[in-house]
Amino acid sequence: MTTKISHTADVQAFFSEVAGLDHAAGNPRVKQIILRVLQDSARLIEDLDITEDEFWHAVDYLNRLGGRNEAGLLAAGLGLEHFLDLLQDAKDAEAGLTGGTPRTIEGPLYVAGAPLAQGEARMDDGSDPGVVMFLQGQVFGADGAPLAGATVDLWHANTQGTYSYFDSSQSDYNLRRRIITDAEGRYRARSIVPSGYGCDPQGPTQECLDLLGRHGQRPAHVHFFISAPGHRHLTTQINFAGDQYLWDDFAYATRDGLVGELRFVEDAAQARDRGVQGERFAELAAIQAFELADLFILKKYRRQGIGRAVALQFLGGEGDWLLRCYAQDAPAVAFCNAVLAGLSRPAQAITLEDEPDLLSFLVSGARH
Ligand SMILES: [Fe+2]
Repeated sequence: MTTKISHTADVQAFFSEVAGLDHAAGNPRVKQIILRVLQDSARLIEDLDITEDEFWHAVDYLNRLGGRNEAGLLAAGLGLEHFLDLLQDAKDAEAGLTGGTPRTIEGPLYVAGAPLAQGEARMDDGSDPGVVMFLQGQVFGADGAPLAGATVDLWHANTQGTYSYFDSSQSDYNLRRRIITDAEGRYRARSIVPSGYGCDPQGPTQECLDLLGRHGQRPAHVHFFISAPGHRHLTTQINFAGDQYLWDDFAYATRDGLVGELRFVEDAAQARDRGVQGERFAELAAIQAFELADLFILKKYRRQGIGRAVALQFLGGEGDWLLRCYAQDAPAVAFCNAVLAGLSRPAQAITLEDEPDLLSFLVSGARH
């Protein structure tokens, strides 16, 4: 039988003393948190029969985690950062705050103070031979009106999946910019198509993930902070459709409504018009607001098992949101049309009977 002592008055009094509760000096909030950490750690040690070897291995692990600056990476990989988003979503729902672009994790690789530009910016320093990517979007306030003067702080990885400041081969603030939205709330950026990335295979985060039987890969994505005086700060991302890790992200950052589509253009005249050398470039459909109520309707249908027959795609662009519903056969198209007819946004159902590869790609990319 497991011996347990953490509940006894003596041990509880000891933890209170350790947490500084027997004197006034110090920070009451920190004392409250540390007391809880001690109480919960003691229960975990007792309940799971943690051995001394396991305990000291964990202490060593924390030392190594900090030594490699990977605490933030582990917080993402263990889903705690995503949990914070879910908790904030639930608080918002309780407060009746719905709609708008969903939040998602910041990750550990933000650097403050990126160069500031009005309306548009080039984000890359020209040293990476990646495909040129144009992205643009429009920021709206909670009232649905375009928001001029908002700050859109963007950052993303290069074609090797690494970030400036964390990869010393890149110039300062490479692929990091802050753009102030114009009178219509719009921002535009030229950059390069980023690559996804993974945890260092030799690092402590991957060491933990290995023990959980999990990979440490993320899909290609672009990070956003969006802020404006008098408005709540939004932390979010666009994750790229077509990436094999889109819905298998070790950091759980991909969310419905945050999937962007890269459209590759191969046209020498268009490339020249946009100042691109060669003939190939990409455009990323950017985040725009959509109605959460619409999304819930679709989730409900997917839970009923119909979701395997369809893949849903939100496309932002110059105009309103377009919701596309890709269907594998005529009955699924009929289903899509019935669902889409009830939505307030422009929508279309597309049959992919003749394009099985594209269909299987889209359906496998849709979250079930
Ligand atoms: Fe990232």
